Amino acid sequence: MMRRGKVLLESSRQGSVDSKGNVANDKELVHKCHSDPGGGRALGANPRTHRHRSASGATRKCVLTLDGYSYVIGQHGSLIENQQGALTIVRRSSSRSKAESCPTPTDEQLDSLDLDTEHLPAVDTPDACDKAALRLRYLLRQLNKGEISAETLQKNLHYAAKVLEAVYIDETKRLADEDDELSEVQPDAVPPEVREWLASTFTRQLATAKRKSDEKPKFRSVAHAIRAGIFVDRIYRRVTSTALMQFPQDVIRVLKTLDEWSFDVFALHEASGGAPVKYLGYELLNRYGMIHKFKVPPTTLENFLNRIEEGYCKFHNPYHNNLHAADVAQTVHYMLCQTGLMNWLSDLEIFATLVAAVVHDYEHTGTTNNFHVMSGSDTALLYNDRAVLENHHISAAFRLMRDEECNLLQNLSREEFREFRTLVIDMVLATDMSFHFQQLKNMRSLLSLAEPTVDKSKAVSLILHCCDISHPAKRWDLHHRWTMSLLDEFFLQGDKERDLGLPFSPLCDRNNTLVAESQIGFIEFIVEPSMGVCADMLECILGPLHSSSKNSTSSAEPINEESTGNENSTKFKIRKPWATCLSDNKKIWKEQAAKDAEARAKQEEENNSVPPTTEE
Ligand code: CMP
Ligand code: MG
Ligand code: ZN
Repeated sequence: MMRRGKVLLESSRQGSVDSKGNVANDKELVHKCHSDPGGGRALGANPRTHRHRSASGATRKCVLTLDGYSYVIGQHGSLIENQQGALTIVRRSSSRSKAESCPTPTDEQLDSLDLDTEHLPAVDTPDACDKAALRLRYLLRQLNKGEISAETLQKNLHYAAKVLEAVYIDETKRLADEDDELSEVQPDAVPPEVREWLASTFTRQLATAKRKSDEKPKFRSVAHAIRAGIFVDRIYRRVTSTALMQFPQDVIRVLKTLDEWSFDVFALHEASGGAPVKYLGYELLNRYGMIHKFKVPPTTLENFLNRIEEGYCKFHNPYHNNLHAADVAQTVHYMLCQTGLMNWLSDLEIFATLVAAVVHDYEHTGTTNNFHVMSGSDTALLYNDRAVLENHHISAAFRLMRDEECNLLQNLSREEFREFRTLVIDMVLATDMSFHFQQLKNMRSLLSLAEPTVDKSKAVSLILHCCDISHPAKRWDLHHRWTMSLLDEFFLQGDKERDLGLPFSPLCDRNNTLVAESQIGFIEFIVEPSMGVCADMLECILGPLHSSSKNSTSSAEPINEESTGNENSTKFKIRKPWATCLSDNKKIWKEQAAKDAEARAKQEEENNSVPPTTEE
């Protein structure tokens, strides 16, 4: 009988793809596998296996090459004699030795390829596999050269996908037949627990039963997902890297300072022709590898960001507009990358945090929750006066994603989607300022515990909230500009309140608002304490990560460490560029407040000294 080797991978996640979506070249993989030493077909796409057997035959090694990667497979356990050995893939490397490589078409073969898709062999024939592979190689080459039309690309990828689907059906049938092979093994040929393991891991019946009971994926779906994953991953990487949105030179120049605390979002607004959300959102999702990791079609992302940007411009707000969205997203990015927070979060949590930042004030009306409630707006009616705007921002953003053209979550699994949605809802709802004190109090009391465990959702919610109110902690020129815009918006609301006969909301009466004093109060009572708790939280959650990386062999230098004075002990501290900005800004506002008070006193004096008019 022709024996077939098959590699069965237990994990549904590709351990070979790092958190940034990069495929590691030489990474330890430990996957259980079942292999037949006869070698032959494995992992689908034309692999080759090479056996190494020691003289005693006690240990065996097998090198399997798939699509340029070599898998060194080691065996353990004693089941080899009945060809049901428990094998472990111990190493994966990308070094492609000549002897092991798949037959790669030559340039001449590729040059003479006719890309016509009309006269191709049926997708379920062996010839189709060759044809599809050749075409994919051709497409990759052309993509590298940048010489391929979208139509040709689409037609040929479509054909290759069909071929893969046909292979999938064929494989499923073949594996179903193998279930029967196992059923022929005598019940007492192996211990019951081994049999159970074999059956539950490698056969359909028990795997199906198990799935019903504990919802673990069937081995076959996992194996197929990984086979297809490796393949699709590569294709996707190539396609997206060429299909990525083009950035104007000026935008590229401004984005060079994207990692800085006092990034100039106003400069980005100018450089991007008024589309900061589009470029910044795209850049961030790409930098963190989200486009690749969550298979976000580049055009869908562009559509989504364009529509989000439009929503921010809908009411022509002086402050709650696309600039504010971009500013908050950039500040969140600073927190993620400059403190090391990204290392504590999963890809999905990073994705949700970035998207939450981008949408957190989507379709803001330029008026406060208080105004919605007091004026009895439709939105207040809809959300029963609770977190009116925040509920709207979230709801409208998810509604937008229902439109297929804007659905950047289209390739998330059901579970990923649920987790993403919950995180975004939690984060954006927590930007409602009425939760501010409660949020800070809860985090403070948690951090005061001997061994605090910080919930991921609570942590990213506090981060987003802090970034949302962070402009007083930025360079003076930026902060001053934001403050003037916000006051413009508040005063416009005051005008509406006056017209509606409503009482003025705080800071909304343009004739009676103490600007400098209000900013001193905002900094002292809201922003400083928030940044303080935020920093404590970051140091608490990142400290252990930092010390474990220090204890490992990593040569990476800690960037956030501060000495405590004791040479032997250093406590992990993050950099806090906001601290000096806050104190500088407060100082300037205090000087301004003193001047304002002087001017008011002078004015009052003048008013008092004006002689009464004759009519009076
Ligand atoms: P929003 O961006 O929805 O959430 C945070 C809120 O903080 C913001 O709306 C404003 O209402 C408020 N805020 C931000 N900056 C200031 C400031 N400088 N002075 C007073 N309130 C502010
Ligand atoms: Mg808001
Ligand atoms: Zn905001």
